[in-house]
Amino acid sequence: IKGYAGTLRREDAEWDIDTMRRGLNIIEEEADRLTELIENLLMASKIQVEGMVRLEIDEIALDKLIRASVERFQTQTNKHTFKVEFPSDFPVILGDPRRLRQVIDNLISNAIKYSPVGGEVKITGEYDEDWIELAVSDQGIGIRPDEAERIFERFYRSDDSLSRSTPGTGLGLFLARAIIEAHGGTITATSYPDRKGTTFSITLPRQMQQPT
Ligand SMILES: Nc1ncnc2c1ncn2[C@@H]1O[C@H](COP(=O)(O)OP(=O)(O)OP(=O)(O)O)[C@@H](O)[C@H]1O
Ligand SMILES: [Mg+2]
Repeated sequence: IKGYAGTLRREDAEWDIDTMRRGLNIIEEEADRLTELIENLLMASKIQVEGMVRLEIDEIALDKLIRASVERFQTQTNKHTFKVEFPSDFPVILGDPRRLRQVIDNLISNAIKYSPVGGEVKITGEYDEDWIELAVSDQGIGIRPDEAERIFERFYRSDDSLSRSTPGTGLGLFLARAIIEAHGGTITATSYPDRKGTTFSITLPRQMQQPT
């Protein structure tokens, strides 16, 4: 941010409009990234102090929320194709829309980050009388079975070279699990040795009990 801002404001240079725009775009994206980082850090320390996530409950159509997220992410990559499969009568549930969007966004962003050659990112939804179930799967590098639980730890990042060279703080899944559990649900990760990629599964109660 500083680099680009400093360059663009130099008084001895006249930038054409395209250069200016590109620079400003990068500044905007990086500022968003910083804001997100700070929000995540604050949320993580709050969880530590208060022991849980506070939710603002409203009605949510998760299928619509997910389609909107996918549309945003689709503009950031042309190596990945997205497939969203929900039954047309998928139920509206009670939950915190902002927090659940944060969970979905992190899962989609991980699916993209950790499948560097691209492939399909598939998001499905199912439901029964009491629960809804979401699955986000990618065709990326996968996770080792011994890491399937550890990736939900605070600041945990895999030690493979891709994860080390990819930007991230290792907070996304820690917060995702805290958010889903605050809703009374579960989130787990599975990788299959015979098949590439990872699947994240989420269950959420259709009628959540407010934690007391
Ligand atoms: N879809 C995936 N495929 C393979 N590995 C994954 C996937 N999602 C997460 N991981 C591994 O789990 C680690 C933790 O993920 P998490 O989302 O918590 O952190 P992050 O993406 O590194 O950073 P951020 O805090 O920005 O989300 C990642 O660093 C990566 O090693
Ligand atoms: Mg992440």
